Parts: sequence; structure tokens; C-alpha cells
Amino acid sequence: MKDKIRTLLAKVEAFDAGSLEEAEAFRVKMLSKKGAIPALFQDFKSVDPAGRKEIGKQLNALKQTASDKVNAIKKRLEAEAESRKQTTQGPDMSTPANFSPIGSRHPLSVVRNRINRIFQNIGFVISEGPEIEDDWHNFSALNFPEEHPARDMQDTFFVEKNPDIALRTHTSSVQVRVMESQQPPIRTISPGRVFRNEAISARAHCIFHQVEGLYIDKGVSFADMKQCLLYFAREMFGEKTQIRLRPSFFPFTEPSAEMDVSCNICGGPGCPICKYSGWIEVMGCGMVDPNVLDNCGIDSKKYSGYAFGMGIERIAMNIYQIKDLRMFFENDLRFLRQFESAW
Ligand code: DAH
Repeated sequence: MKDKIRTLLAKVEAFDAGSLEEAEAFRVKMLSKKGAIPALFQDFKSVDPAGRKEIGKQLNALKQTASDKVNAIKKRLEAEAESRKQTTQGPDMSTPANFSPIGSRHPLSVVRNRINRIFQNIGFVISEGPEIEDDWHNFSALNFPEEHPARDMQDTFFVEKNPDIALRTHTSSVQVRVMESQQPPIRTISPGRVFRNEAISARAHCIFHQVEGLYIDKGVSFADMKQCLLYFAREMFGEKTQIRLRPSFFPFTEPSAEMDVSCNICGGPGCPICKYSGWIEVMGCGMVDPNVLDNCGIDSKKYSGYAFGMGIERIAMNIYQIKDLRMFFENDLRFLRQFESAW
């Protein structure tokens, strides 16, 4: 009996398990009803009474050691499994992502970026100028004579009652700055914000946006301008678009024209958008007046060029069928969210 106890005790002491299943199997083998230790308790009944006390002690000690050992091993294995779970847990890639709404571009930015890209694709570069301008760059260099009524075409915001400094009324001021600092060939477009002292309504605002274009080189003709603007109109409004040039007046171009595009809604016969004319006015343009070239240090006997200027709001209103200009400035998210675009 004593030998059996010793052998089992040695087995218990030597035992270790790599898994909970192994530990449980050992427990069953040793401690369950039909296990080796309860079997010894059965045998104990036949032990001679003189040895009972000591053997009983040894048996109890064996049972205690075995169950302590199995419990300790199980506890350790469980703790190891828990810590493994924590370090390998990481993010669960199968859980649905949180929805975080992304913004959308402002429709004026979408349209401006498209205009920029159309001209960049044929070699125009972007140039920018200040929003606070002096009289020279906004008016005088552009051939607006002093006290000439042409200045009244654009109601001006002056800065601190200084008649020489104003918020630019058009992006044509950037033409002057480009020509003053570069010699031809010049191919540039200038997008930007402009300001006019006008009452705010569905069709007018005191702040709006323009893109100015300028091309100067040797032998540039009115036909070159027409072809460039036809290309623009078709890229912008669709390949079937037609253009029409109507004579107009601007102090800085001679001859000057107003360009219309065929109505992209009805395609010509007339609809409420084009006010039943079949045409939509898009921009002013013309051959740069030789006086302007000379004012800006470019020899008008050697060079000629064309310029054009368009309002971004007007084009955006047309493309998106927006009836009220003020919507561009109210920043109502229900309006803005309709313009998700890669541009
Ligand atoms: N600056 C003009 C305006 O704001 C638009 C314009 C017309 C620009 C004709 C030009 C041009 O360069 O040639 O109304």
C-alpha cells in the first residue's frame, strides 16, 4: 500500500500539462470516482488497523497534493490563454466600419476646378493677384480713362475712403500684373474673388468669382480666340455646344465681344432657362487693346493677344440649374451636400 502511495505521489509531483484537456484527463485518471486515488481508498478498508493511522494520513496527503497540483496547473493554463487573447486580439477586421461623413466640395470650387483644368490642358498656367488692388491695376492700366463713365460699369468698394485702393472689381487686374512681370508668350488664367457694391438679390451679389484668361504672342488673331473659346465651351457644356459672338464694349479689348453658348438644356429651340432664345451668355472677350499692352510694358507693334473673363456663379447656376445666387453663400449643408465630386 505504502509503495502504491509513493509511486502515485511521484507521478503527481512529476506531472505537468500543456493544455487544459491534458490536465483534466490527469484529474480524471487520478481523482475521479474510478480514478487511482479513490481506488486506494477502497483498498484502505483492508489495511490492518495498526497501520491505518499513518497510511490514512499519507493517503489524504496524496489526494490533497494531487488536487492542488491539478488546480494550480489549470489556473496557470487559463491565465496564459487569457493573456494570449489580449495580445493577439487586435482590431476585428470583420466589424463594420464607423460611418464618418466626409465633406463635399463647394459647387463654385467644382466649377472653377473644371474651368482651370480645361485651360491647363491646352497650356494655360494659373496666376493669382491680390483682392485689394490699386487704381492702376484695376482700372487705369486696363484703359479705363480717369473720370470715364466706364468706371461706373463696376460699382467699387474703396478701402478707407482712399480713392486709390479698392477691392478688385474683376480679375482682369491680374492680367496687368502678369504682363508687367513677364514677356510673351503668355498663356494664363486667373481665377479669383471679386467685389462690387451691388444690392444682393437672386441674380446679383457683392462678392462673386471670375476666371480671367489671357493669351499674348506674335500674330495672335481673333480667329485663334474663337477656336480656343469653342474648345472651352465644348469641354464645359458638351461636345454639341455651339458658340456665338456678339459685338460688345470693354475698355481693355478692341474689338470686344460677348460670347453665348447654345442652351445646354434645350439644345437650341428655346426653354425657360435660356428665356426661349436658345442661347446663354457666358463671358466677355476680345483682342487686348494695344494701349493695355503698352501700359504693361509689352510692345504692341510686336505682339497681339486676346483676353476673356467669365463669372463662375453664372456657369454653375446654368450647369446645376440653381435659380438663386444667394444659395452659394448661405452654406446650407442640405444644398452643399448635393455636390460630391472628384473635382
Ligand atoms: N472684366 C470683365 C468684367 O468683369 C470681363 C471681361 C470682359 C474680361 C472681356 C476680359 C475681357 O478679359 O476681354 O465684366
